[in-house]
Amino acid sequence: MAPIFYNPLDPEVHADPYPHYRMLRKEDPVHLSPLGFWVLTGYEDVATLVRDPRLGHELQGPMEGASMLFRDPPAHTRLRSLVSKAFTPRMLERLRPRIREIVDARLARARETGYLDVIADLAFPVPATVISEMLGLPVEDHEQLRRWSGALTRTLDPVMSPDDMGGIASASVAFSTYLSDKLSERRSRPGEDLLTALLAAEQEGDRLTPVELFSTVELLFVAGHETTTNLIGNGFLALLRNPSQLRRLREDPALLRTGIEELLRYDSPVQLLIRTVKEPISVRGRRLARGDSVLLLVAAANRDPAVFRDPDVLDVGRPEGRHLSFGGGIHFCLGSALARMEGQIAIGALISLFDEFEFDPDPLRWREHINLRGLESLPVRAA
Ligand code: HEM
Repeated sequence: MAPIFYNPLDPEVHADPYPHYRMLRKEDPVHLSPLGFWVLTGYEDVATLVRDPRLGHELQGPMEGASMLFRDPPAHTRLRSLVSKAFTPRMLERLRPRIREIVDARLARARETGYLDVIADLAFPVPATVISEMLGLPVEDHEQLRRWSGALTRTLDPVMSPDDMGGIASASVAFSTYLSDKLSERRSRPGEDLLTALLAAEQEGDRLTPVELFSTVELLFVAGHETTTNLIGNGFLALLRNPSQLRRLREDPALLRTGIEELLRYDSPVQLLIRTVKEPISVRGRRLARGDSVLLLVAAANRDPAVFRDPDVLDVGRPEGRHLSFGGGIHFCLGSALARMEGQIAIGALISLFDEFEFDPDPLRWREHINLRGLESLPVRAA
């Protein structure tokens, strides 16, 4: 038998990584890739290790200026507490009517024409508008911000080409210039938004450095839309491919809550988490040494038959198990409640507005990203 190795760049794997994950989980659940990192695919291992403080980010000491996502405590705790107030259930309930409005406005044209690109017309603009409004960034700047964000999110991939790295560097410079303009505007004209709140924290000195202010805004913007776009896009694609499940959701909207969880499990918008080993650790008899990189494949763990019965079947009423699509432990997604709300409203509106959808599944175009898995476009006719 040919040796198994994790190869996310193979076009077939990129189009549908799940058979590849199944094989890895079965044959080599603690896999050492020839590229030098560990790849873990079993639910139990991923769920346990994501909470283990022996894995982290700051091996050589503090990563000055990086966002909370790449920091360990105590910096992580400090940075996360500065923005967590904006994501409490009470704050989010206040956003609900506005999210409905944005979704309705986005579907108005489709209602007339009977045609929409689920990505360009709904899945991208809805979360992008919501996070821009929360931060206080002009909604008109979306398209530009999306291009930068598309490049910046490649940093979350386990492997990238020199071209990608060039793209990341220039997007990073352009985004910084843009953001410093916006921040100085906001300094002179404070608002009710997160940008203003973060500026106030920075002015107090010991809570947020100027570089951390940047990385926090960048993280919120990028994490706030790219992932949710993929929840709506991948989720709706899964429903188109499983019409009986789409019908169930339409006939019983109370199922939307478990339905969104199932869509998150079934085709996870974030495929993997990256960590560094800070203290040696043994997993299933294999020794992970200090300094090793580890990929925790949440998308593979979400299909583990030890936890989910018939894991490759989409079941919007699935009762059992907890998917790992929002991660776990101290970095558990800060925006999970917001993402769920956006997903429920967007997909709920789409399936209640139309009785029938027709899509041409071939060829589906997936974005190049390995970690943030999502479609370039998803054109459908709706009646
Ligand atoms: C379906 C949509 C989303 C998915 C699947 C998702 C997934 C994730 C995952 C897996 C992590 C953990 C990463 C790690 O441990 O390495 C994470 C962290 C994070 N997410 Fe989300 N996310 C989504 C939406 C959002 C939204 C809407 C926001 C904010 C507006 C957001 C903000 C964040 C932040 C700030 C972190 C870092 C938390 C920390 O380091 O403590 N996410 N997200």
